[in-house]
Amino acid sequence: MSFSGFSKFALGSLLVALGVDAGTPASCTNTQISCQNTTAVTDSCCFNAPGGQLLLTQFWDTDPVTGPVDSWTLHGLWPDNCDGTYDANCDSTRAYTDIPGILTAAGKTSLLRYMQTYWKDNQGDDESFWEHEWSKHGTCINTIKPSCYTGYTSKEELVDYFEVAVQLFKGLDTYKALAAAGITPSTSKTYTSAKIQAALKAATGHTVTLGCSNGTLKEVWYHFNVKGSVPAGEFIATEPDGVKSTCATSGVKYLPKSGTKTSPSSPTGL
Ligand SMILES: *[C@@H]1O[C@H](CO)[C@@H](O)[C@H](O)[C@H]1NC(C)=O
Ligand SMILES: *[C@@H]1O[C@H](CO)[C@@H](O)[C@H](O)[C@H]1NC(C)=O
Repeated sequence: MSFSGFSKFALGSLLVALGVDAGTPASCTNTQISCQNTTAVTDSCCFNAPGGQLLLTQFWDTDPVTGPVDSWTLHGLWPDNCDGTYDANCDSTRAYTDIPGILTAAGKTSLLRYMQTYWKDNQGDDESFWEHEWSKHGTCINTIKPSCYTGYTSKEELVDYFEVAVQLFKGLDTYKALAAAGITPSTSKTYTSAKIQAALKAATGHTVTLGCSNGTLKEVWYHFNVKGSVPAGEFIATEPDGVKSTCATSGVKYLPKSGTKTSPSSPTGL
């Protein structure tokens, strides 16, 4: 999956092919695109509603540093309503725990290894962070309800949630897209929001949401609508569901994942 060509791609057959003793998500034909539908769609296994805008969100954590120095990390996959509001914690009976155990039992050890590198909690507790993302956001994705699967096996919708999020993330290399526009981490340089947006828009074709804290770039959110179900459908890049960027117009810092510690005790040059 290439970065430049990711704005419209199908995940379905790939994910189905990777399945281990799992059921099959709904197969959907001639469905409308979520949030872009022109008539009401009643098949809730083939049409994402009310959460029809799916966000793939990423972190750039420098204090403490998480993940590889030359990669952003995964935050989550969130279903927003088409107007930018969102539901959260939609099904407490599916607030699953022991996500490594669930993924391992499903034969998804390489997915788990990937998550251990790229889906990081800045407090160092990846497992609770994954549980939080799943319970808060994953349980609100209507097209992965257990009842949508033929031959449902326990917790397989959680496996689909993490699998789809990782596949999307792999096609959205924020570090590379910024570097291609000369936007590289620096303790001294600053950038305009317009330059950062232009770099990411060149890659995706659409505006993203930028998150800053204390004048420093920390988050990027990518926005999609979906044709069909989340596990078997097609993600179509789209504009944000509202203006939520929190970065200043100019003077935005993008700090390196090393050498940013204020403490003089940290070693340098490693
Ligand atoms: C799109 O589908 C949703 C869910 O069925 C529905 O509530 C909404 O009214 C539809 N939009 C249009 C323009 O028909
Ligand atoms: C915010 O940035 C200023 C100036 O770069 C720095 O001195 C300060 O420590 C930062 N505050 C936090 C909470 O990171």
